[in-house]
Amino acid sequence: AGLNAAAHAARKLYFGTATNNNELNDTQYFALLDDIQMFGQLTPAKGMKWLETEPERGVFTFAQGDQIADLARQSGKVLRGHNCVWYNSLPGWVTNTTWTAPELAEVVTEHCFNIVRHWEGQIWDVINEPFNDDGTWRETLWYNTLNTSYIPLALHAARRADPHAKLYINEYNITGTGAKATSMKTLIKALKRAGVPIDGVGIQAHETVGEVPTDIQRNLEEFVALGVEVAITELDVKFLTLPPTQAGLEQQRKDYETIVGACAAVERCVGVTVWDFTDKYSWIPGTFPGSGDACPWDDDLEKKPAYYGIVDGF
Ligand code: XIL
Repeated sequence: AGLNAAAHAARKLYFGTATNNNELNDTQYFALLDDIQMFGQLTPAKGMKWLETEPERGVFTFAQGDQIADLARQSGKVLRGHNCVWYNSLPGWVTNTTWTAPELAEVVTEHCFNIVRHWEGQIWDVINEPFNDDGTWRETLWYNTLNTSYIPLALHAARRADPHAKLYINEYNITGTGAKATSMKTLIKALKRAGVPIDGVGIQAHETVGEVPTDIQRNLEEFVALGVEVAITELDVKFLTLPPTQAGLEQQRKDYETIVGACAAVERCVGVTVWDFTDKYSWIPGTFPGSGDACPWDDDLEKKPAYYGIVDGF
């Protein structure tokens, strides 16, 4: 038994996790990660990002991503490539140059083509986090120079690199309906209408205990109705203040169950990925100081009530 076994038994879904290269040396962690009953999918949390994969222009470094891709292949797990185009984790040569639009178009096309070609046959988060929370376009390097054209550019480059890859746009705070989810739906419609390759929407689902949206299933169904699949790609449910109470841990269990249950209820939701499975390696305390305990396993790699919420959600 395990979470991937539960996901598979429910509807041939996968249950997966993000992981990092340095964590693989932790033997107790690795034993859990490697178990196919527990995890049927892996996402490198850092290893395939721009900073890691093209630190100098035209110099591609695949070693970190390869380690996780090889691990996934050896243990029969699905691999999600993450990601081609984001405003974060960029090397200085990208951010410190004043690019013309044609130059930057070439830079983004080359990057996407090369990394998607290298890790072929996979699911890819081609675009990561294009919107602000109010649904306006995020004013990134990409948007400020290329306007919205960087989206089709990157998707076309990814499709040319690998005709079989599932191409996604991935975003946070689109778990329930609202301005940001609406903007994503408008974008997907426009891409479909224009014949741009787009296969899926990644719902990151970085949530807060007790604040999980109540209309997740309806929201997922609205995405799917546009002709794409969906996946929960980066699930975690953080406490804003620590340590949590027992009641808090029970609420977190319910929150995990709600989110997993919404995916399980929507036919074209293909799986659920947690953004690492233990509080020991969660990104949350580093990015949201004072917050944490967001994962289904605690710091000592013991299962929390949230683990059983996931089981019940499937
Ligand atoms: C985070 C990683 O977990 C960290 O290790 C890294 O320092 C910064 O990025 N949304 C995303 C992920 O799409 O790529 C982010 O991952 C978390 C938020």
